[in-house]
Amino acid sequence: MSASKQRSSPRQPSQFNLETFVASSTVSVNAALDQLIPSEKTRPATIHKAMRYSLFAGGKRMRPALVLAAAAACGGRVADAMPLACAVECVHTYSLVHDDLPAMDNDDYRRGKLTNHKVFGEGIAVLAGDALLTQAFEIAALAKSWPRYSHRDIILEIAKASGSLQLIAGQVADLEGEGKKTSAAQLKYIHERKTSALLCCSARLGGMSANCSTAQLTALTDFGYNVGLAFQVIDDILDVTQTSEKLGKTAGKDTKAQKATYPSIVGLEKSRKIAAQLTDKAFAALKPFKGRAVELEALAEFLLKRES
Ligand code: IPE
Ligand code: IPE
Ligand code: MG
Ligand code: MG
Ligand code: MG
Repeated sequence: MSASKQRSSPRQPSQFNLETFVASSTVSVNAALDQLIPSEKTRPATIHKAMRYSLFAGGKRMRPALVLAAAAACGGRVADAMPLACAVECVHTYSLVHDDLPAMDNDDYRRGKLTNHKVFGEGIAVLAGDALLTQAFEIAALAKSWPRYSHRDIILEIAKASGSLQLIAGQVADLEGEGKKTSAAQLKYIHERKTSALLCCSARLGGMSANCSTAQLTALTDFGYNVGLAFQVIDDILDVTQTSEKLGKTAGKDTKAQKATYPSIVGLEKSRKIAAQLTDKAFAALKPFKGRAVELEALAEFLLKRES
């Protein structure tokens, strides 16, 4: 069954508007981040300018939206989920600042602006990434804990998704895969780690902020894994099908760098099919929510159809 046919929400589409949800969650996340990150004037000013430059460059804020949507599905409060939404965006932005460095993907544009190292130099860009990653843990420590989900659980969740077995493992394999013949299994290994891990972590943290049940956490894990893997398959597709203007980053870079991507290994059509199948699996994972996870359903559908 197709993803859209599986949507089971009892609420009418007119009662829930994803665009409004994402717009308002982005406004709240930006306001919270602005409070949490030291001001541009705080010494040393250069590092805080650099951190804020990339953080407020105009990212889609999909990981924070996932945190807030998962919290909503579990009946949680926005205020309890917000520090975790901000923390995952800090980890994500750090990963992009480093991903763009000349020693990695060597990109000049990100989020429609010059990359961090192009503006501040490589040394400051490395440090801005380091500071954003560290900031994520400082922010996460401010989150509400529950008897079921302690600060230890929350910190472990973020550390594991960002660490050398997940996000970093994926980035290592991505770099080592350049110019080499890569199997479909190895490609999946890369994408699960470099991208799906943090999206899965986002969905789980949203649930944890709402003191979700074990069954709900399992459903969110399954949902986040599949949406996360689809997210990177689509990122690969967009690299070959969209313009740099639309993406806010240089299109066609994967082919030039001979990256292991879904279109390069299984072709464009099969890649689209895989992304749709993963989205169907994500929908199926939401069954235990009995139609109450409207925000997550709408996000999964939006992420499949996105053009940037
Ligand atoms: C880009 O992520 C990097 C990937 C993991 C594919 P996004 O497409 O979410 O980038 P922003 O945050 O909107 O800039
Ligand atoms: C980035 O993957 C993954 C992480 C930053 C962890 P990509 O290298 O494909 O992301 P883009 O295309 O530069 O945004
Ligand atoms: Mg990369
Ligand atoms: Mg890149
Ligand atoms: Mg990419």
